[in-house]
Amino acid sequence: MIKELINKAIQAREKSYSPYSNFKVGASVMGESGKIYSGCNIENAAYSPTICAERVAIFKAISNGEREIKKIALIGSTDSFTYPCGVCRQVMTEFASDDFEIIVAKNIEEYVSYSLDDLMPNSFRARDMGR
Ligand code: THU
Repeated sequence: MIKELINKAIQAREKSYSPYSNFKVGASVMGESGKIYSGCNIENAAYSPTICAERVAIFKAISNGEREIKKIALIGSTDSFTYPCGVCRQVMTEFASDDFEIIVAKNIEEYVSYSLDDLMPNSFRARDMGR
């Protein structure tokens, strides 16, 4: 399952639209249904409308009816691990299952796995507003 997710992230990375950074990222998410949704980073000449691969994959899952995500795999395009940015960590916080797993991959063989609490401790959630 983890290798399948990484493989889908690698395939999604091919579709990256990143002419400004030349940094391709791919991500894939497993929703509560077990379906997998993939995404790549999409940049813009105005820079700030750029969206990360992780959020594209998560928003595809949510817009297809998923309300919880179980796992995410991501892969950048250097020899080191690419970690999710702060905005993506916040978006993960909104939809993550209790056992949510974040898989940061260098390639299909080399990856590290984290819980949300590892990467986003003391996060702000709906419950902080009393919901
Ligand atoms: N990027 C991602 O897609 N995910 C990350 O986790 C880090 C950064 C993208 C955004 C931008 O297109 C490029 O990488 C350089 O920041």
